[in-house]
Amino acid sequence: MLAAFAKRAAGIASRASASSLASARSSAQFDVARVVTTSAPAAAAAEAAASSASSKPSNLQEFQIYRWDPETGGKPRYQTYKVDTNACGPMMLDVLFKIKDEQDNSLSFRRSCREGICGSCAMNIDGVNTLACLCKVDKSSDAPLKIAPLPHMFVVRDLVVDMANFYAQYKSIEPYLQTADGSEVLKGTEYHQSKEDRAKLDGLYECILCACCSTSCPSYWWNSDQYLGPAVLMQAYRWIIDSRDGKTEERLDKVNDAMKLFRCHTIMNCSKVCPKSLNPAHAIAKVKAMVTAAH
Ligand code: SF4
Ligand code: SF4
Ligand code: FES
Repeated sequence: MLAAFAKRAAGIASRASASSLASARSSAQFDVARVVTTSAPAAAAAEAAASSASSKPSNLQEFQIYRWDPETGGKPRYQTYKVDTNACGPMMLDVLFKIKDEQDNSLSFRRSCREGICGSCAMNIDGVNTLACLCKVDKSSDAPLKIAPLPHMFVVRDLVVDMANFYAQYKSIEPYLQTADGSEVLKGTEYHQSKEDRAKLDGLYECILCACCSTSCPSYWWNSDQYLGPAVLMQAYRWIIDSRDGKTEERLDKVNDAMKLFRCHTIMNCSKVCPKSLNPAHAIAKVKAMVTAAH
């Protein structure tokens, strides 16, 4: 998780200024390391899955995948692919790999861990934001399965969206331990916490910043330039209640804003959709209560 996050954090700095549509489009390369390419291990895994499934009768299913290429331009479209899901791994990410490896290597999507840890493969599958690597293919479905980028995000290419604004918002809440007097957190020093205080972080620290919640929130769709959204607000709360942190008041002051925090209207899409079963809406309610009590 830490290693995966470090990779993602490295992207924050390089993307800090890329928050407009124009810059999103012109920065199509900034995530190129994370845009998927056909790899030998992935091909081997696909082959193994195919051979273990070769005894099963074929189960051809249709997948309609959102395509947009900034180099050729033109309108975005859905492209249909047929995949024998009995000759493929069980998850949507396996289907995407099979298509990329065997039918169309121009298809672009992000992934890294393929086990729900890095948050890279977030996308909209059949109308629901989720992680492709944790989403099982419904093999009984006769209807085509639709795969699209996370909604209301600028598209860099195909299923790859621009996360610059999301990461900049995360950076804005200063998601790291700070001392009350602003002195540097000492390296090699333990900052102790009781078991009870540590337990308060459960259900918060597990967030993988996939953005499934924020991009399912209508308030975030319309005001993502100002509203911090559920993922970032939950992380703000994670630091507000960390007993080791000395900047609780300042953190509350910082989020006390009609647009940053109070655009949440408790619609609850965020908590319904979280692939890690976290509850950002609950965390936002706690932040609102703390802010109201403090002011
Ligand atoms: S509860 Fe708040 S953050 Fe969650 S979806 Fe609703 S408006 Fe958005
Ligand atoms: S709260 Fe859940 S959906 Fe939102 S970013 Fe974190 S892991 Fe993803
Ligand atoms: S590939 Fe890492 S969460 Fe899906």
